[in-house]
Amino acid sequence: MAGTKDLLLSEISSPVKDSESKVTVVGVGQVGMACVFSILAQNVSHDVVLIDCVEDKLKGELLDLQHGSLFLKNPRINASSDYAASAGSRLCIVTAGVRQREGESRLDLVQRNTDVLKNIIPKLVKYSPNTVLLIVSNPVDILTYVAWRLSGLPKHRVLGSGTNLDSSRFRFLMSQKLGVAPSSCHGWIIGEHGDSSVAVWSGVNVAGVRLREINPSMGTQQDPERWDQVHKEVVNSAYEIIRLKGYTNWAIGLSVASLAQSILNNSHNVHAVSVNVKGLHGITQEVYLSLPSVLGENGVRSIVNQCLTEDEKQRLLKSATTLDDIQKTINL
Ligand SMILES: NC(=O)c1ccc[n+]([C@@H]2O[C@H](COP(=O)([O-])OP(=O)(O)OC[C@H]3O[C@@H](n4cnc5c(N)ncnc54)[C@H](O)[C@@H]3O)[C@@H](O)[C@H]2O)c1
Repeated sequence: MAGTKDLLLSEISSPVKDSESKVTVVGVGQVGMACVFSILAQNVSHDVVLIDCVEDKLKGELLDLQHGSLFLKNPRINASSDYAASAGSRLCIVTAGVRQREGESRLDLVQRNTDVLKNIIPKLVKYSPNTVLLIVSNPVDILTYVAWRLSGLPKHRVLGSGTNLDSSRFRFLMSQKLGVAPSSCHGWIIGEHGDSSVAVWSGVNVAGVRLREINPSMGTQQDPERWDQVHKEVVNSAYEIIRLKGYTNWAIGLSVASLAQSILNNSHNVHAVSVNVKGLHGITQEVYLSLPSVLGENGVRSIVNQCLTEDEKQRLLKSATTLDDIQKTINL
């Protein structure tokens, strides 16, 4: 006997299996869910798959999100611990792993999260061989290198969220000091996401007016206004938020959604993301550090050659050596 659905609807075609904007997010912790929520709420993708190894949490997050479908654009949301659900993803975002404990540096996490990636990356690539991989788990620069090595994908299809978040923190703090919106405050934090990141003071500007021309000591300890503290605050902000609430999630979620948007829409926007920097700015090691990069459907389209001062270049080189030394100790 025909049911209500069959009586109501005459089926004309079958549903399309995979959409053009399919995104898989691995890890449904604080960061993963903030990424998923930002992606759905901003309609960056209407086809999102959640993957985690904790079944109950996965199911709970799925139901909670699905119950909001009315207020979104009726997205397709799926969740599974089986990576087959991720098949055909255009973008896979990895947020799984252990997070920093209070006072723990991002680099301390390295081997623990490398082991997590060994379990995840081969499965993602098996089901989505054409995907772009975006790594968020910390220490993000090293784990992006690890993911690249484990995936066998070309360099341009593996990137890390890097200093996109640090740059956004910097532009927010700059906006607070100047009373100008963050989107109109231009400044780049490059290099390592974290303790040795580099503020490119030489390029900080509003409307093309370079602030170093107005205040030549900007970013140095000789500056009476101590703008160098803004960068210090950027570096310390994750530690401060973790001290206060135990984890960071909202800003990283929004920052990842902005990267997803640029990749899925092939928009060629420039973001500070962690990319393979061998051969750039005199770096000789196979390491991942953040540089302003043009993002599109294939991941990294190109990398902007910033005019760095000698000091900025030296700091980048130092980070490259630090990361390379750590990478040598990893059991891949
Ligand atoms: N790059 C950045 O700017 C940035 C910012 C904040 C946090 N992070 C990092 O993001 C990561 C996640 O942080 P969080 O606060 O969401 O942690 P969390 O503990 O809340 O969530 C981690 C999730 O990963 C899952 N997981 C662990 N091992 C897994 C595996 N093998 N397969 C599938 N899922 C697995 C856990 O079940 C959990 O749901 C951490 O490494 C943290 O340091 C990065």
